[in-house]
Amino acid sequence: MEVVREIPLARAAVARARQAGRQIGLVPTMGALHRAHESLIAAACKRGLFSVVSIFVNPTQFVPGEDYEAYPRDEAADLEVCRAAGVELVFIPPVADMYASDAVTRVHVSSLTATLCGAHRPGHFDGVTTVCTKLFNILQPDVAFFGEKDAQQLAVIRRMVRDLDLPLEIVGCATIREPDGLALSSRNRYLSAEQRQQAVALNRALQAGAVRVRSGKSNADSVVAAMKGVLAAAGAERIDYVEVVDPDSLQPVSRIDGPVLLALAVHIGPARLIDNLTARPDAAAAAGRETPA
Ligand code: PAF
Repeated sequence: MEVVREIPLARAAVARARQAGRQIGLVPTMGALHRAHESLIAAACKRGLFSVVSIFVNPTQFVPGEDYEAYPRDEAADLEVCRAAGVELVFIPPVADMYASDAVTRVHVSSLTATLCGAHRPGHFDGVTTVCTKLFNILQPDVAFFGEKDAQQLAVIRRMVRDLDLPLEIVGCATIREPDGLALSSRNRYLSAEQRQQAVALNRALQAGAVRVRSGKSNADSVVAAMKGVLAAAGAERIDYVEVVDPDSLQPVSRIDGPVLLALAVHIGPARLIDNLTARPDAAAAAGRETPA
């Protein structure tokens, strides 16, 4: 496994792999690697791609007051994860190399970034799309892998790639969960034992919402109320959002008559956690045997 920090060396390593007939698979990360990252790497390896992991805690996607400084950084542990997972190239650029002090260019995806996390973290997605564009340009991947836990990020990246004709495929990989349903996240390490217990409420709330959607509840407000009820019962008070949105446009829906994305962001202690689930009315409900809200 090669570890490079300079952009020209990363370009050269990727070019060598390409000359050797390999296609490039990129897993962009901010480090603090866990099993969900391993599943993205495994997806790249399974396709026989030259597997590249970038580790870069991207300052431009943190909103003022967020946890940029505190974000977990453990390069030695991350490299061990990469080595064990069979990664072939790790790219760890310094901030100053990624962002020249006089850089004035940002990549902005509108509309899709106006709701959910975009509404609560202004500028966050500009940071994500800008750094991903830079990583795509530097590492020239044929395929890049992103987790479905960050559903809005995945939708935004897909749209950016489509709109800008970027020559790569974006693959979304299923959310990896703890046995009790908590979605894996680097920020879970901020949680105390008690907060960790409380955090299970995120997935429980989504499940409660999904049960109602499947059974044909068509009023999105009532589904949101049920999800908020689960969070309140768990004592989760700082809720950024609990929403029912269209899975493609990410715009809120009021009447549920097809697949919807249930999405939430909740502060548990020092951690802001997000999760989501796609749900659709089951066949009987879709055939018109709708239950009242
Ligand atoms: O999902 C993440 O870890 C980050 O948002 C990403 C895609 C690596 C960009 O910094």
